[in-house]
Amino acid sequence: MQKLAIQGGNPLHGEVFISGAKNAALPIMCASLLSAEPLRLSNVPDLHDVSTMRKLLQQMGVDADVQGENLTLSGANVNKLEAPYDMVKTMRASVLVLGPLVARFGEAMVSLPGGCAIGSRPVDLHIKGLQAMGAQITIEHGYIHAKAKRLKGARIFFDIVSVTGTENLMMAAALADGVTVLENAAREPEVVDLANCLIEMGANISGAGSDTITIAGVEKLHGAEYRILPDRIESGTFLVAAAATGGSITLRNTSADILDTVLEKLTEAGARLSIEADTIHLEMQGRPKSVNLRTSPYPAFPTDMQAQFMALNTIADGSAMMVETIFENRFMHVQELRRLGAQIDVEGNTALVRGVPCLEGATVMATDLRASASLVIAGLVAQGETVIDRIYHLDRGYAHIEAKLSKLGASIRRLK
Ligand code: EPZ
Repeated sequence: MQKLAIQGGNPLHGEVFISGAKNAALPIMCASLLSAEPLRLSNVPDLHDVSTMRKLLQQMGVDADVQGENLTLSGANVNKLEAPYDMVKTMRASVLVLGPLVARFGEAMVSLPGGCAIGSRPVDLHIKGLQAMGAQITIEHGYIHAKAKRLKGARIFFDIVSVTGTENLMMAAALADGVTVLENAAREPEVVDLANCLIEMGANISGAGSDTITIAGVEKLHGAEYRILPDRIESGTFLVAAAATGGSITLRNTSADILDTVLEKLTEAGARLSIEADTIHLEMQGRPKSVNLRTSPYPAFPTDMQAQFMALNTIADGSAMMVETIFENRFMHVQELRRLGAQIDVEGNTALVRGVPCLEGATVMATDLRASASLVIAGLVAQGETVIDRIYHLDRGYAHIEAKLSKLGASIRRLK
């Protein structure tokens, strides 16, 4: 188990280059299954989850060529329509191969993703949508077995907004016979990025980014070139870290217009922001002010930024109410933050965070991706040394985080 050791107290200064979005790269990589022609991707983040997805696709027969942040995937020789349990259990997003496999090959055997630290995270909406499009689906020995001669367009209503549910069904509908309408669809920028990539491949999609997406199926999709959009959660994480440490940083290769609610909350916390094209500059003088927040589907406040803001609130001036409405167990970082001296009371899906003047370094344990980011931020502000265990969670979603933080002046090192 690798660990990170952080000496707290250094304000972050300087510039950081943001990587491509993990949650756009993962569905877009699965889109390679929809065509026999190569999909040439750029700005692909160097993440553990991305290499896991690449290996999953390769074991199905997708050819992959990695050149730094460029990744070319070709679905010409797909010869296995299965996503095995030992790969799916490490990454839920593997379920995103289901829609493309059924759409192009008429069959798929995809292991049911287990739960994960932040909640049960079922995929019933993915399955119901495919059934509405005519797929016969049985669940046997922990696998989703889907078959369809050819999927048919359908009107599908999501009774819960689901990001990967929307993405799976949008990819399935791209090759279906007829028109599919996804109602109460997810509006996340990563959904829009996938739609834009599919359109480049010849798909006929309108309404992505709104809650109603219409897809008119086509016979075939061709290859394309596509650049993955910047990671708004990595961007938000660095901005919160700079605000918490009272620093001033500049983000490059990012995009402010997909971060509205996060930038609003940072301004409320007392940060001064200035924005140019693909650059965001943040300046924080003195102690942040507490900010209340409630997570909701995009464009409201993102659940993937809740843990990071909780770290900020632990040392902010005042008290904050934080409500997590998306996942039933996304407060795993609370116990660990308490070990650093944070004052947090949890009641159901609400946490009350009373700001304290300072945190004390301690040994803590990462439990999930964004919880580990929260512990890094807390470690950056705590007095003394914080050691974070099980940082493989962090490596899933943050490319070279200690190198990027060291460049910003943090005292952080990886312990083998
Ligand atoms: C995506 O997960 C992201 N992952 C998550 O990011 C993110 O937290 C989440 O969306 C919410 O924004 C990827 O994009 C790879 P959902 P996803 O389906 O699609 C319930 C990170 O840190 N639900 O939008 O799995 C579900 O239980 C990760 O990068 C059903 O009930 O989330 C949850 O309560 C963590 N049935 C809610 O909907 C379903 O069939 C939203 O889940 C599907 C979902």
